[in-house]
Amino acid sequence: MTRIFSGMQPTRQLHLGNYLGALRNWVELQNSFECIFCVVDLHALTIDQDPEVLRNNIREVTAAYIAAGIDPDKNILFNQSFVPGHSELSWILSCHAPIGWLNRMTQFKEKAGKQRDLANLGLYAYPVLMAADILLYKATHVPVGEDQKQHLELARDIAGAFNRRYETEFFPLPEPQILGEATRVMSLRDGTKKMSKSDESEYSRINMTDDADTIAQKIRKAKTDPEPLPDTVADLEKRPEADNLVTIYAALAGQTREQVVQQFAGAQFSGFKAALVDLAVAKLAPITRRMKDLLADKAEIDRLLRKGGERAAAIAEKNLNDVKDIIGL
Ligand code: ADP
Ligand code: NA
Repeated sequence: MTRIFSGMQPTRQLHLGNYLGALRNWVELQNSFECIFCVVDLHALTIDQDPEVLRNNIREVTAAYIAAGIDPDKNILFNQSFVPGHSELSWILSCHAPIGWLNRMTQFKEKAGKQRDLANLGLYAYPVLMAADILLYKATHVPVGEDQKQHLELARDIAGAFNRRYETEFFPLPEPQILGEATRVMSLRDGTKKMSKSDESEYSRINMTDDADTIAQKIRKAKTDPEPLPDTVADLEKRPEADNLVTIYAALAGQTREQVVQQFAGAQFSGFKAALVDLAVAKLAPITRRMKDLLADKAEIDRLLRKGGERAAAIAEKNLNDVKDIIGL
């Protein structure tokens, strides 16, 4: 049986990387598989949050899921903190995860920065909570962007360690699904950094709530080099910013990067950026509009989350009881 689980943090707004790297793929998958889509609000606590802002961001991410095409009736759509099993299983799994495994996680090193001792324990334990999110539902597949590959490997390792320790096949080993042309969208300001919610620069990312003028401004200001577009994808290799804009264009247009490069070979970036603005606005504006409509009725969003949460909790409770049985609790 295939069961899909994935989620996004309600930290600031969702951006183009979240959309192209993950959310858009979920919309495809929901037609063929049983899917559980989560707003991972407990993960958001790993950075300092204003309570009112957090409450609102949970609704905003929910609205973005639905506006992008996730059907809240066909899928289980909920927020993580509604189901207590995430935290509980996270503790159990953390007692089966050697610290050495966590010490290898590159995202922690990046996010903790130089003053690692001041980083909170939650940021360090984040990948174990993520493993719990997935394993709580015995999910088999996890559609994510490339940045989550290492965390998924850890989830598999933890599941495997648990299964071996208790001589069971209880947890499936979840497989990452890294799909599409834009599995790693880079910052618009720095082609060596991924586009991220936690980047302090607003101009580094296009948010799903940006209006047409803001999108245009951000793309116009995006860093490039002085060369025109090449005529082969191979020639983009040492040009990370140019490569990123071509990748974004390809993903939005539903083309391959080769097709985009062929179409724009020899063009200056000013012209290419203008085409990219038109494309990005055309693709994002309807989603943004739908998000606004949904957010006008906050009570309805809360109701949908609660309904999804109850469905999620039913699966979670059964699995957690089985886990407790296995380990002697
Ligand atoms: P962020 O890293 O921006 O805080 P999340 O950690 O909430 O976002 O990630 C949500 C999903 O979006 C994950 O599947 C992640 O792999 C994907 N994702 C995040 N950033 C990017 C990116 N720049 N390119 C492609 N996918 C991304
Ligand atoms: Na991430």
